[in-house]
Amino acid sequence: MNTTTAQTVSVSQAPSQAPSPSAEAAAVLAATADTPVKVAVIVGSNREGRFGPVVAEWLLRRVRDHEGFEADVVDLAEVDLPTSLSYRPSADVVAELAKVSPRLAEADAFIVLTPEYNHSFPASLKNVIDWHRDEWQAKPVALVSYGGVSGGLRAVEHLRQVFAELHMVTVRDTVSFHNAGALFDGEGNHRDPSVADAAAQGMLDQLQWWAWALRGAKEVRAYGS
Ligand SMILES: Cc1cc2nc3c(=O)[nH]c(=O)nc-3n(C[C@H](O)[C@H](O)[C@H](O)COP(=O)(O)O)c2cc1C
Repeated sequence: MNTTTAQTVSVSQAPSQAPSPSAEAAAVLAATADTPVKVAVIVGSNREGRFGPVVAEWLLRRVRDHEGFEADVVDLAEVDLPTSLSYRPSADVVAELAKVSPRLAEADAFIVLTPEYNHSFPASLKNVIDWHRDEWQAKPVALVSYGGVSGGLRAVEHLRQVFAELHMVTVRDTVSFHNAGALFDGEGNHRDPSVADAAAQGMLDQLQWWAWALRGAKEVRAYGS
């Protein structure tokens, strides 16, 4: 074997000794798939006498039955943020933000539960969205809606536009409850659950895929870098 050949062999072996970037990325993605997705379930309505908790309980049962999620419920009725935004919030506002901001930051993914108010989503939801920025970025969000005849579908489509501005991915499938009050019995059980259960399963599968994909990608390379 002459020197030239030996050099050629050692150079050609070098890449196989260190993992290639794509092999490293594949390893990160495989590892992240074994770690549960932290999902913040945001209950968007804070109205007195609201129906939201009935739908929220139904949703949470589906999330807990689905493998691979750890749910944290962020109920906007328990958060009292002012509608006037500030870069220098008062101590009271800082205390309110402390109830919610770290939990949004911690989440890998979100499920937003929204009713429809006047063909859109409620002000309570827009307020918590606008108070935050980085907490939302490069994360997936699934949308569950309820309302009168439209089932909250117009609220969902408006939220997709808002979340795109925040660099989020809205998952394609949603769950919507039309004339929601009539669909649940006094115990909060859906009277005819098969269609809604199947929709929730598909939506949660998609949310989990996006959460794994984006969490893994961010471990390989920070978003926006
Ligand atoms: C201010 C307001 C506006 C509403 N506008 C709509 C609407 O545009 N379309 C619709 O289908 N239902 C509408 N509804 C019905 C609500 O979607 C329904 O009552 C729902 O249960 C409200 O959610 P909540 O009880 O959790 O607040 C409206 C209700 C309120 C209070």
